[in-house]
Amino acid sequence: MRGLLALLVLTACTAAPPAQPVPDAGGIVDPLSMPAQATVNLADVPSVETCKACHPRQAADWAGSRHAYAVRDPVFQALVGARHAAFAGQQDKFCVQCHTIAGVRSLAVVPGFQFSDLPAVPMEGVTCWSCHAAASIARLHNAGLNMANDGAMRGNLVQPLANSPHGTVAAPFLQSAEFCGTCHEIVELHGLPLERPYSEWADSPSARVGQSCADCHMPKYDDVAALGGPPRTGLRSHRFVGLDPPGAREAATADERAAWVADRDALLATAAAVSIAPGPTHAGDTMTVTVNVTNRIAGHSLPTGSTFIRQCWLEVRAVDSAGKVLYETGTFDANDDLRDRWSALAPYGDPDLVSFSSAFVDGSGQPTLFPWLAVEHHRNQLRAGEQRTYSFFVQVPAGVTGPVQLTARLRLRTYPPFLVRLLGLDAALPTVLLTDLATAATAVSF
Ligand code: HEC
Ligand code: HEC
Ligand code: HEC
Ligand code: HEC
Ligand code: HEC
Repeated sequence: MRGLLALLVLTACTAAPPAQPVPDAGGIVDPLSMPAQATVNLADVPSVETCKACHPRQAADWAGSRHAYAVRDPVFQALVGARHAAFAGQQDKFCVQCHTIAGVRSLAVVPGFQFSDLPAVPMEGVTCWSCHAAASIARLHNAGLNMANDGAMRGNLVQPLANSPHGTVAAPFLQSAEFCGTCHEIVELHGLPLERPYSEWADSPSARVGQSCADCHMPKYDDVAALGGPPRTGLRSHRFVGLDPPGAREAATADERAAWVADRDALLATAAAVSIAPGPTHAGDTMTVTVNVTNRIAGHSLPTGSTFIRQCWLEVRAVDSAGKVLYETGTFDANDDLRDRWSALAPYGDPDLVSFSSAFVDGSGQPTLFPWLAVEHHRNQLRAGEQRTYSFFVQVPAGVTGPVQLTARLRLRTYPPFLVRLLGLDAALPTVLLTDLATAATAVSF
């Protein structure tokens, strides 16, 4: 709670007034994704538990995915709480419309709601029903799916068995990037684009060769699609591997977790490349160090998604043979925070820092952490396939004890520790995950 209070104080100090008026007690309305009247009857929305009996593999894989964690995630809940506080409880629905379609369209989520009061099905997050009861695509952002109420499950099996307890409807759109883009493309109420993996994809080499999100995030395997069904080829993994570790860690066995982490590591290993090269130099002079960084993902920018929460940056170090640090950028302060504007111990202490994340600016030109206060979104992501070159200048002392070891790492972190502390979630600090996407090293003799 102390953290949330600190957050509100910070909001009050740095924030311009919200870009749109606080809506009336009826809450905000979007006819499709945040309707004023219920368009879904929660009693008709099946729990994942129902599907598990016949689709155990999909259910187990999904349970480790972020889709299963989309409402239970404490960082999500804390941020929704902050928005709730900023808008006197009237805007809760905006953040929840994709994280639980069932909750918002059934009006289980009402203005001023508490997560602890939500029924079980909305707490399940992005469930089987969220995707397999989608009738069609209405728009390519903000939960742009029309939901069916016929109880049939949409899919692309060739001649699905007729004995399933649910009807089946062929739905080629499920295979498309557009389908994922209905949620993986977020536009704030006042029009500011927040997350854009779909538009990045639409402009990428993957789009040109017809490689969809599922081709990388739902790799194929052969098995039965349902217990008692015929063997099938080309089924799709429901782990939805991305940057995050398994979401429902507590539910997974050690073997399941290991398989999951292996999938994640395999995906991340394809993401980037880094190289490092020293310029000509001698002791007592300035050495120009050139670092090349490449986004090897053909399908979208790096980072993508919640780029304003993620941290993605270059760490570059030069260390002499006695272990003395001659140069460093992209290293942490004693709180494990980058020494950027948000560092409590060394704000603006790393002028050379190269960050590929994005940042919000509010109406008074000040940096803000919160999308609802932002009027600008500054991006520095590496586009699909893009390579960039950066130069760093290392002062080499006259009496250097060579060789000097040069290293460069492209690092990606789920959350900045300062944000986790600001939200009062110190207990979640050990879950912050830091991954080195690519590393390069070389030595220079003197
Ligand atoms: C248009 C659908 C949509 C809306 C609206 C939306 N989100 Fe999300 N949210 C997503 C998707 C998709 C991701 C996954 C992106 C990623 O992992 O980078 C996500 C990821 C997140 C995460 C990161 C969880 C993780 O993977 O570690 C947080 C926190 C979050 N959202 C909070 C919010 C808040 C707060 C709001 C309201 C301001 C909001 N979301 C509105 C779709 C949405
Ligand atoms: C985020 C969307 C999404 C969620 C959530 C989701 N699925 Fe799927 N599912 C898909 C996509 C996409 C396919 C592949 C469709 C295709 O091949 O065209 C698929 C395929 C399937 C298939 C066909 C066989 C196969 O595995 O490829 C079954 C059965 C299935 N899902 C069941 C489930 C169950 C059960 C759950 C919940 C535990 C679930 N799905 C959750 C998107 C989703
Ligand atoms: C009593 C068993 C049973 C239950 C419970 C069940 N299914 Fe199925 N489902 C089947 C069978 C059988 C098939 C056809 C498998 C085949 O032909 O290989 C199937 C097929 C599917 C397909 C593929 C449809 C297509 O046209 O490609 C999807 C998607 C699906 N189920 C989702 C779900 C979801 C979501 C739930 C929970 C709401 C669920 N199922 C509950 C037995 C079940
Ligand atoms: C060519 C393969 C490829 C395609 C196509 C692709 N991705 Fe990714 N995606 C990756 C890789 C590799 C990563 C891991 C690096 C990262 O986290 O940025 C990733 C990461 C992500 C993340 C996690 C980002 C984060 O930091 O939270 C999301 C969300 C995502 N992709 C969504 C999508 C969506 C939606 C599409 C389709 C519109 C898509 N991806 C298409 C390869 C791909
Ligand atoms: C109904 C909305 C919805 C749809 C449709 C949807 N997603 Fe998601 N997805 C989310 C949300 C919300 C999250 C973030 C959950 C969280 O971490 O809190 C997410 C997270 C993810 C992640 C995890 C990213 C990470 O940080 O590790 C991947 C990968 C992903 N989605 C892939 C897909 C793909 C591929 C499709 C299309 C087949 C798809 N999603 C369709 C809502 C959706």
